[in-house]
Amino acid sequence: MGALTFSVRPMRHEDLRGVAELEAGVFTDWGRVHRHDTEPLPERTGEELEYAASFDPDGNLVAIVEEGALAGFIFARTWGRVGWFGTFGVPTQLQGFGIGTALLSRCIAYLRGRADTIGLETMPESGANIALYCREGFRMLPPTIVVELPLVRLSERFEGAEALLWSEADRGSRRRLIGRMAAITGGHLKGLDLRREVQALEERGLGETVLAIGRDRRLAGFALLRIAPYRERSADGRAYIHALAVRSGPGDEEILEDLLRGIWVVGKRRGFTRVVGGVQGRYARAVDLLFERGFRGVRTAVTMAAEDSLPEVFEPSDAINLGRWAG
Ligand SMILES: CC(C)(COP(=O)(O)OP(=O)(O)OC[C@H]1O[C@@H](n2cnc3c(N)ncnc32)[C@H](O)[C@@H]1OP(=O)(O)O)[C@@H](O)C(=O)NCCC(=O)NCCS
Repeated sequence: MGALTFSVRPMRHEDLRGVAELEAGVFTDWGRVHRHDTEPLPERTGEELEYAASFDPDGNLVAIVEEGALAGFIFARTWGRVGWFGTFGVPTQLQGFGIGTALLSRCIAYLRGRADTIGLETMPESGANIALYCREGFRMLPPTIVVELPLVRLSERFEGAEALLWSEADRGSRRRLIGRMAAITGGHLKGLDLRREVQALEERGLGETVLAIGRDRRLAGFALLRIAPYRERSADGRAYIHALAVRSGPGDEEILEDLLRGIWVVGKRRGFTRVVGGVQGRYARAVDLLFERGFRGVRTAVTMAAEDSLPEVFEPSDAINLGRWAG
């Protein structure tokens, strides 16, 4: 293929509309080829893109061709010392000219300065993407499984229950609670810290954080429940478990049950019928516990990590941790 002149620069707020259009177009084309989708994919909502862009603005990039048109984008995200990138795309007609590699290299360089573990998630159908990421020094992990729970399956267990919510916690307890959140996730993967997500979900009105207290009266688990849809015209009764973490050790299954109860209460209150979440395959015990509690598997995603990430990310873990490295 001939050469194409383009440059890469940080994404600006005024790029977001164009990024929304480009992203929907690229993934619509991808879905037609790889999944035989017939309907165009709706755009990500403006509030979702602003949320995604808000965390690591210097790691979010766009590619621009000579005439000034948008020719690609990538978003970076750090959760403490754990980084990932996505969503990521180049217009179909401009693929294969090196734009994706340029965006990716610069985004990874940004993440390397800030994270000890760098991850990504991609579609299992896309061998080309996996080759691209392998070349950039990523290795495959056990796949992520996407799971879904019809809330009606919990109704008998939880009818009349109450939820403990971050949004209802007073100022004094908030400082203590949020400190414990970092300790819980850091116990699962060193440096994993979701505190900015908890605060941003609340500030932007996109979600609720459910809490569970252990027998020692300390925070023992929390779940970030996303209540706003990611895409336009996609309010389909589903809420998303953006992340969930339980303190490891005796009694962790009880805490998981408390969190599911809280999720059920919020879901019912807000008119959802199902919750969806993702679990990385290295947390095999967590996958089993969810299936036991009525979740069903809906699909898988390929998860990869930079080969110089902390070694523990490649090891199996008994921890109860839900989350995805996906945009
Ligand atoms: C993945 C993507 C961002 C790469 O961007 P790009 O500008 O095409 O990437 P590059 O030109 O730097 O090419 C990198 C590699 O991607 C693959 N590739 C690029 N264009 C391709 C195409 N049209 N068909 C198949 N493979 C392609 C090739 O393996 C290529 O390696 P090569 O140079 O050895 O052939 C782009 O293909 C895309 O937007 N795909 C659809 C959406 C998607 O998959 N996003 C990432 C989700 S994790």
